[in-house]
Parts: sequence; C-alpha cells; structure tokens
Amino acid sequence: MKVVREDKYEKLMDLAKRRGFFWPSFEIYGGVSGFYDLGPLGSMLKENIRRLWLEYFVVKHSDMAVAIETPMVTPEVVFKASGHLESFTDPIVQCGKCGRVFRADQLIESATGRKVEGLTPEELTRIIKEEGIKCPVCGGELGEVRLFNLLFQTYIGPYKRDVGYLRPEAAQGMFTSFKRVFTVMRQSLPLGIAQIGRVARNEISPRQGMIRLREFTIMEMEFFYDPEEPGEPPYRRFGGKLRILTAEQRVRGDEKPITVSPKEAVEEGIVKNPWLAYWMLVSKEFVKELGVAENETFFEEKLPEERAHYATQTFDQLVKVSRWGWVEVSGHAYRGDYDLSRHMKFSGKDLTVYKRFDEEKVEVREVVKYDKALIGKLFKSESRKVIEIITKLSPDQVKKLKSSGKEVLEVEGFSIPSSAVWVEEVKEKVTGRKFIPHVVEPSFGAERLVFVALDKSFVEDGERTYLKLPPRIAPIKVAVFPLLSKPELISKAREVFNALLSSGIPSTYDESGSIGRRYARADEVGIPYAVTVDYQTLQDSTVTLRFRDTKEQVRIEVSEVPTKVRELIEAWRLEE
Ligand code: GLY
Repeated sequence: MKVVREDKYEKLMDLAKRRGFFWPSFEIYGGVSGFYDLGPLGSMLKENIRRLWLEYFVVKHSDMAVAIETPMVTPEVVFKASGHLESFTDPIVQCGKCGRVFRADQLIESATGRKVEGLTPEELTRIIKEEGIKCPVCGGELGEVRLFNLLFQTYIGPYKRDVGYLRPEAAQGMFTSFKRVFTVMRQSLPLGIAQIGRVARNEISPRQGMIRLREFTIMEMEFFYDPEEPGEPPYRRFGGKLRILTAEQRVRGDEKPITVSPKEAVEEGIVKNPWLAYWMLVSKEFVKELGVAENETFFEEKLPEERAHYATQTFDQLVKVSRWGWVEVSGHAYRGDYDLSRHMKFSGKDLTVYKRFDEEKVEVREVVKYDKALIGKLFKSESRKVIEIITKLSPDQVKKLKSSGKEVLEVEGFSIPSSAVWVEEVKEKVTGRKFIPHVVEPSFGAERLVFVALDKSFVEDGERTYLKLPPRIAPIKVAVFPLLSKPELISKAREVFNALLSSGIPSTYDESGSIGRRYARADEVGIPYAVTVDYQTLQDSTVTLRFRDTKEQVRIEVSEVPTKVRELIEAWRLEE
C-alpha cells in the first residue's frame, strides 16, 4: 500500500500554487532554485505587507524617517568600500569525482552536528579531512574549501572594465546618498532613510523554498543618529516588551529568551543602544500585524562569528514556521560608523555632519608655538622647512621632546633650540561639533514574510482548510455571492460588488456552485468577509455578512456594506 504523507508545508505549497500565491519561477523550463514567482494573490499579499512596513517604519515616524529609491545595479567601487567584495562570501567545497559544489559549513554541520560558522577555509578543510567527510551525493573525495562571493556580477555598458554588481542589500544606496538626503531633510538627526527594493544574492544551493531566494525584495532602514547624544526614542508610541535570547545565554546553552522592556534592555547593556532596541520593538509590532503573536517571536543575539562584517551587535528576529523551524524574519544590526567612514575613505568626500551648539562654548586647546625670528636667524634658507616640520608636531610630541630637559631638540635631522618651540594653551570659541553619525539597521525580506503570513494563517479544522489572514493584509477583503444563480439575485449582488470596488475595497464575485462551496473557496484564500444576497435582500435591502474565522453571520443594510467592512478591517487585532 502506498503511504501518502502530506505535512502542513506540502499542503500550503499546494494551495499556494493552485490558488495563485506563488510557485517556482521558470516552471516550463524545469525551474531554477532560489527564484519564485508571485501570482495574482501573492503579489497583492506582498503589496499589503510592503505598505504596512512603510506605515510602521516611515509613516508612523514621519518626524524622523523618509523613504528613497536607489538603483539595483551598483558600480564596483561601492562594494569595495562597503566590504562586500571582500567579505560577502560563503565557504564552498567541490567534489573531485562528480564536480558538485557544496556549502562547506553546512556540509560539516549536517555530517557531524558541529557548529562551524565563522571558521576559516583552512580550518574547514582540516575538519573535512579529519572527519573523513565525503561527497554526500557520490561519495567522492572533497577538495580544499575556498570562499565564494555571493554578489551577482555584471558590466555597466559595453566595456568589460566597468564592472557592476546587483546589490545584495539596499543599505548602500542609503549610505551613498546620505549627505544629499540629510541636506534635503534640513540637516536634522536622527534621520531614518528607508528603502524597499529588489536585491540579489547568488546563494550556493538554496533549498528552503521562499525562505532563501536568490532575488527578493528587501525592506530596510538605515537609521542615522548622533552617538554622543542619541536622544530618547519614542518608546511610548508602541509600548510592550521584547523577548531576547542573548549571546551569553546561547553560549551557556540556555534557550529561554528573557523578557525586558527596550529601555531596560539598553540600561542593562543587553542591547548596545536605544535606537537598536526601539526598532526591534517596532518590528515586533509590525510582525504582529502579519499574524505572529508576541510569544511566537523572539530576538536572538548573533555571536561575533555569525555577524556580518559591518556589525558590532546583531539580533535576528525569529519566527517558528512549519518545515523550517525557527527562521529569521528581520535582522537588526548596529553598523556604527563603519559604512560612512568607508565611503569617506573611498570617495574622498566629507560625509560628516556638523552639529551647532545651542550656545557657543569656549574651549581651552593646546597649540604648538615657535620663535620665527630665532629660527630664521639660525636656519636661514632652511627655515621654511624647519617651520614646516615644527607645525606638523602635535602638542604632545613637543611636550615629550622637551621633557628630556635637553637644550636642543633633534627633529628630522635638525637641531632646534628648545627655547624656540613651546606649547601654549589658547582659548577658542567653538560653535559646534563635527562627527560621523552612527547607524542601526532593521532589515526584512518581503517574500519571507509572505510565506510566514501564510504559514501562520493556515488552518485545518477537520471540515475545512482556510487561511485566517489578518484582514489588513488579505489580498481580497470581501467575496460577494448571490445565494442562488437567479437573475434578480445576480443583479443585486453585482450592485453590491460594484459598490465595494468603487469604494476601493478589493473584492471578488462568484455565482458558480453551491453557496457552501463558494464559502469554502473564499475561505481557502483567506477572504475575511463574505456578503450574500438572498430573497430577503430584495424585500428589505439587507444582506448577510459572514465572518471567515467564526462562520458567524449577521444581517446588515446593503448601503452599509463598504463602511462596515472598512471598520472591521481597521478594528481587527490579533488575539493572543
Ligand atoms: N542589510 C542587511 C543585510 O544585508 O542582510
């Protein structure tokens, strides 16, 4: 007897394909792993998630955040500066017999259970040899581990020297245009620059469906602030606590996240700065809108060897899904001044900001002074050179030279009388401070959230399978049905349907099959409300409004339908 094993994941993937949420791209040519098409429902679901993200990260923070759009194709120098050319790599190893290439760290982990992330290629090669790990497909000998860069390379224009890359993150667009946006925004900090756009990563062998894609939409914000005066984030806009599993807990083998308010997390040194904690709080609230309860998500601090090259502290927000277990839905990196400093170095442009003090300050500063007349008299034609040497000395260097008590200072081959050079304190009026802003970054993959929202909303309760998608992200909000396929009911139902569409509420109309089957079809794609026109409608202008999750029905006036649906969508909150 053939045993058919269908887990939730397989059922969800079947639904996604059959009803038009998503499916593997280039299907007619056999597909290419790491690429997915979004169908009519999937693209609308993603669009709703995108809008919600923009609402949480930009609209609700219009006092400190803006959105921009920058190109996907990026010249090479940007990724030299950002460090991606050097560090955006994964270790790979090739089988000498069949030629297949594997991710070396994953291969070792699945063969031995050992965590080897962050080890060098030499260390990984040694472990493969010591453990006798062979090609998992043909059993052949594996070669030396080497690093593979995940950037997709291209050329900009016809010349091969003009190398470009598809961006693997939107962030660099925000760094390279920081000064321009900062100026446009009247030079005020803190300033969040957000972007939603396509990115590409040439993953070695992505096998986790929608979880690991080679091309996807990133939703990320670079939040620039003054490290000396970061200010107090508006915690009260959201409230609530964070569940955090610290790196220290992970090292001890403790798997139970602690629950702290973002403010406490900063005060206790768990999160390095207030803005990192604040955007984690906003992220938790945003993800709740997608149907993820507070106790179904937590923030895992990454160990140093797990962090990206630009980060000094990182938390991944994890959500548990079917098949893949805990997956990252957002990354929260403290990037410090890494990116702006690197772009200053590579572009030669000044990306610092100047903060004017409220009141002018008087600062005492040490400066190096010299006796010009004496130096001129002693060194004659070489006096300019000697003065140049002296002016390059710092006050500390001069103090050190003079501390020996010798009458003559020996500097770069000149013997300068000690009395000709000295350090003096001068008072200076200072009007402001120049610094490189620091950055924290919340970053989400949109397609992953599409999968998470579907996975979290997939319900089988025996008699029916449905998606309890939160109404705000459901691609279609209302299904309109005539109870029976009769002209008078059809005509009235079409009127209701048109009224909904004119009000801008995405709706669908269906008159084929039994009413039970039509409800089932609507439930299966997560339509939260169904409106049915029956004979009573013709008499008293009321319809039934049915709720997807409870199957409960109420009668409302036809004229009320669009307003009522809007109110219901607005009032929806996740039950915890
Ligand atoms: N900018 C976030 C990332 O590259 O994952």
